[in-house]
Amino acid sequence: MSHRENRVYSDQEAVANAFASFMKEVVNSSDHSVSIALSGGSTPKVLFGLLANNYKDDMDWVKIQFFWGDERCVPTSHEESNYRMTREYLLDHIFVPQRNIHRIHGEENPDNEALRYGRHIQTTVANRDGYPQFDLIILGMGDDGHTASIFPDQMELLSSDDVCRVATHPESGQKRITLTGKVINNAKNVAFLVTGENKKDMVKMILGNHPEASGYPASHIRPVGNLFWYLDESAAGDFRP
Ligand code: 6PG
Repeated sequence: MSHRENRVYSDQEAVANAFASFMKEVVNSSDHSVSIALSGGSTPKVLFGLLANNYKDDMDWVKIQFFWGDERCVPTSHEESNYRMTREYLLDHIFVPQRNIHRIHGEENPDNEALRYGRHIQTTVANRDGYPQFDLIILGMGDDGHTASIFPDQMELLSSDDVCRVATHPESGQKRITLTGKVINNAKNVAFLVTGENKKDMVKMILGNHPEASGYPASHIRPVGNLFWYLDESAAGDFRP
């Protein structure tokens, strides 16, 4: 049975704390390895710092297979690389075998890399109904309603049959590689980490089930497994679970 829950905390740090303890439960209670797709963005940055500081010896790190839900098409040395951010804030500070780290090669040709990463995921992550099934996918949401790198002007990435696709940031034109909606919605657990006042109108529209919400990618994330929204009070605005 899938479970839906919206959780509101005082601030970004409290969101990161609460999610870290949920993640620990998912990882430490599993009797097999756990596939997790990470996200870029500001809240994950805080989360990764907190995990590195407070969960170094407290999480079964070697059990985790690390993937990414999306990546910017830049080299790993670039300040916008999601992999670089994760390495700096988390991976450099914990013990994880290199073979557990499955990064998106942002430095490669985007079309080729979307295919390669999609195939890699198909062969390494457990399968349900022909699609990979991650144990946990961490997502953010932009104030334009995008999630992972599925933007409102590329809604077709939600229903694509591919595992990964190339996306284009609507303003900067930056190429990105993203998991598609079908893969995200096949996960056992999906957790949105959403903080900041600029998100409150979108949160209200999506979690309040307004009809216009259907124009925004984040509203289409309704996985077969559990769905959690971790919000801080600023992002929740006057929305209360
Ligand atoms: C990325 C993301 C993206 C992000 C949102 C929210 O790599 O940029 O995966 O989907 O999560 O843009 O970002 P903030 O948490 O920084 O607002």
